[in-house]
Amino acid sequence: MKISVLGLGYIGLPTALLFASAGHEVVGVDIDKRKVDLLNSGKLPFQEPGLEELFEKARDNFRASTQVEESDVFLIAVPTPLDLQTKAADLKYVKSAAEMIWLHLKKGNLVILESTVSPRTTERLLIPILEKSGLKAGTDFYVVHCPERAIPGKTIHEMIHNDRIIGGITPESAELAKELYSSFVKGNIYVTNATTAEFVKLIENTYRDVNIALVNELALIAEEYGINVWEAIELANKHPRVNLHRPGPGVGGHCIAIDPWFVIQNSSNGRLIALARHINDTMPNYTLRKVREMLKGVEYPTVTVLGVAYKGNVGDARETPALRFIKLAENEGFKVKVYDPLVKEFEYPLLSLEEAVKDSDCIVVITDHEVFKFLDPEKIGQLMRHKFVFDGRNILDHEKWKKAGFKIKVLGNGKER
Ligand SMILES: NC(=O)c1ccc[n+]([C@@H]2O[C@H](COP(=O)([O-])OP(=O)(O)OC[C@H]3O[C@@H](n4cnc5c(N)ncnc54)[C@H](O)[C@@H]3O)[C@@H](O)[C@H]2O)c1
Repeated sequence: MKISVLGLGYIGLPTALLFASAGHEVVGVDIDKRKVDLLNSGKLPFQEPGLEELFEKARDNFRASTQVEESDVFLIAVPTPLDLQTKAADLKYVKSAAEMIWLHLKKGNLVILESTVSPRTTERLLIPILEKSGLKAGTDFYVVHCPERAIPGKTIHEMIHNDRIIGGITPESAELAKELYSSFVKGNIYVTNATTAEFVKLIENTYRDVNIALVNELALIAEEYGINVWEAIELANKHPRVNLHRPGPGVGGHCIAIDPWFVIQNSSNGRLIALARHINDTMPNYTLRKVREMLKGVEYPTVTVLGVAYKGNVGDARETPALRFIKLAENEGFKVKVYDPLVKEFEYPLLSLEEAVKDSDCIVVITDHEVFKFLDPEKIGQLMRHKFVFDGRNILDHEKWKKAGFKIKVLGNGKER
């Protein structure tokens, strides 16, 4: 098969290379000329475990271009960010990709939408654009939505081994796509219709968001009762049918913090989902309140944020709750310094650990990077003006930090009021 993959980002590029390494002829299409040139000169635009080896393996069957050309299969993996004003999916990239495809569409082609979209996007937005070709979807050409579940850091492994859902606008579309994905997917492939597949992708992340909101709320309630929520959760999870998540200073990333909005954007229901979003979105406000309480009486406070990645052990800071915390803190006159050894790009300067803690009054752990467990509180304490820590992820060795003279507050631990 000749496959054109539109969008060579975190999802599109590995997908394109997996198809190429399975023997298909793949043209990776991106509107970002810099990315296209980089790839054609043998360089990768971003890092991901296993990507270099995969690129090497796929090189003979892969090339990049800024132009779409005639193909058997067109795969769309362009961004679908949240429109902050409407709290709905911003589908402009999907539209522009579809506009680029229909001019080259031929009878018997398959169009795959991998981007995460709101329910009915395939049927109501994608197909009408593709039908500008004069061909009829479902009869002349095939269309599926095939959402992606892979997690950054393990993208390639998960793309191969995760189970997949393929939603066809007709059963033939789904079967055709299933056969194609079977060239590299080792997990099970389940077929359904396109709208169900769109919904399934979204409710997976909604499930996680609502469950995180539940434990975040429980953390706040536990504090009122003088209970340590971490201990309570551990004990509750001894129940054979209970699996409470972990609370934290907010939820970020391009999926969990966004997809729930796509679920409810065209629904007159969804109060629980919107409330969960609100609870998680305001955890940075709560974090700041706790830090402010700790620093009562400290003049011109400086805080050091440990971790701006949206979650532990990744370098991705998209939609990070750290940004909200930093902006809120600055609004209240705090000076904020940032340390994150994994993140390479951020809206605030990324400092060395020494610079970040020098003359600081409080360390605020936002991200649970494994490396933070091995920090030396003695050394850090010597550089700070005051020794306060707010551990938003409950990851530090609190006894060790206390021994070094730190006063510690852990999110959701009401025992230490
Ligand atoms: N990154 C993840 O872990 C992940 C996981 C599951 C689902 N998704 C979904 O996959 C989709 C892609 O996400 P991503 O993280 O790969 O995005 P990304 O921002 O890393 O890459 C998208 C690429 O698409 C290109 N692009 C935009 N419009 C284009 C067009 N008309 N034609 C060709 N290229 C175009 C951009 O230049 C960019 O290089 C999104 O819908 C996202 O929600 C992402």
